[in-house]
Amino acid sequence: MIPKTLHDRGVISRYRSFLPVSEATPVVSLNEGSTPLIHSPWLSGVAGDGAEVYLKYEGLNPTGSFKDRGMTMAISKAAERGAKAVICASTGNTSAAAAAYAARAGMRCAVILPAGKIAAGKLLQAFIYGADVVAIRGNFDDALDLVREFSAREEFEIVNSINPFRIQGQKTASFEIIEELGEAPDLHILPVGNAGNITAYWLGYREFFEAGKSSRLPKMVGIQAAGSAPVYLDRVVEEPETIASAIRIGNPASWDGARAALRDSGGAVDVVTDEEIVQAQILLASRDGIFVEPASAASVAGFLKCHGKARCAKCPFPAGKANAKIVLTVTGHGLKDPGTPAAKEMRITEADATLEAVLSVLKLA
Ligand code: F0G
Repeated sequence: MIPKTLHDRGVISRYRSFLPVSEATPVVSLNEGSTPLIHSPWLSGVAGDGAEVYLKYEGLNPTGSFKDRGMTMAISKAAERGAKAVICASTGNTSAAAAAYAARAGMRCAVILPAGKIAAGKLLQAFIYGADVVAIRGNFDDALDLVREFSAREEFEIVNSINPFRIQGQKTASFEIIEELGEAPDLHILPVGNAGNITAYWLGYREFFEAGKSSRLPKMVGIQAAGSAPVYLDRVVEEPETIASAIRIGNPASWDGARAALRDSGGAVDVVTDEEIVQAQILLASRDGIFVEPASAASVAGFLKCHGKARCAKCPFPAGKANAKIVLTVTGHGLKDPGTPAAKEMRITEADATLEAVLSVLKLA
């Protein structure tokens, strides 16, 4: 029996009254959520006009991504109905979270992954948490189609974001932002892959607005990788490609949710190139000290595209509005993907173990 106090810091205990749980729900938590909202002097300066830019650093969740918020809900509800096993398709982070929370609940976890397309750290997570890993010769969209076929099997709970409890858990990130800022931001920028997260954030913002905890709603901006941009192009992409493997998705499951968030918030969707993603990843680490995986850097790349020299025409940034508050979600930790092209920054210089040699390398000799 796990002492109750150990579960008192996760998103279910923090936002119980906004979530579909009851006394009968066994809470499976790893103290996810309550991630820092970090002010970025660099990006605030880029925006100008007194704007304040904040990064919601979701890489600091227990398995290193925002997926933990949804997974505590999905696994707790699966445990409530007595499921013995869970299954998901994934580009890596969902499978890491599913494997960890299933381990915690004593459930079997099966993950279906596109072979050769998962960042090394995420793949290691699935194995170390004890999941059964199947690598299919196909992409994420094929994997999700396969997983949908498991809905007929009673013993399995599907824990992709087609499971509505995932969206419920993930909406708590919006709650935290409103509580921290004392108000909803003017603009919220986040990467879009399977589109569950933008759907969840918009739900969270609306619920807190309706509960009187904020007096406005943000404009939602979704950023996709140029080679995997179905929402931007408004059509399925058969062979999505991008170095941001987490968002290499051509047919998002929550497409309708993304459309509604973009339309109802007066927001926009834009694309960034792989080069822009890698550049943003390096700049965020070297200027703000925040290391995120490539998919997460898409938020920053999108922001820089809109607010840099070539301000994009479609951007709903409240132009001329002084002191705007802008939040960027950075969804996953940089250490998950050591194979990122940014790794070429590692230029190791060896030296003899003498002060003279070290000073010489540091150009201090
Ligand atoms: N950022 C990261 C780091 C992700 O892992 C994902 C999605 C996204 C952004 C996009 O979020 O799908 O809700 O639009 N990863 C899923 C996975 C697909 O399997 O881990 P989304």
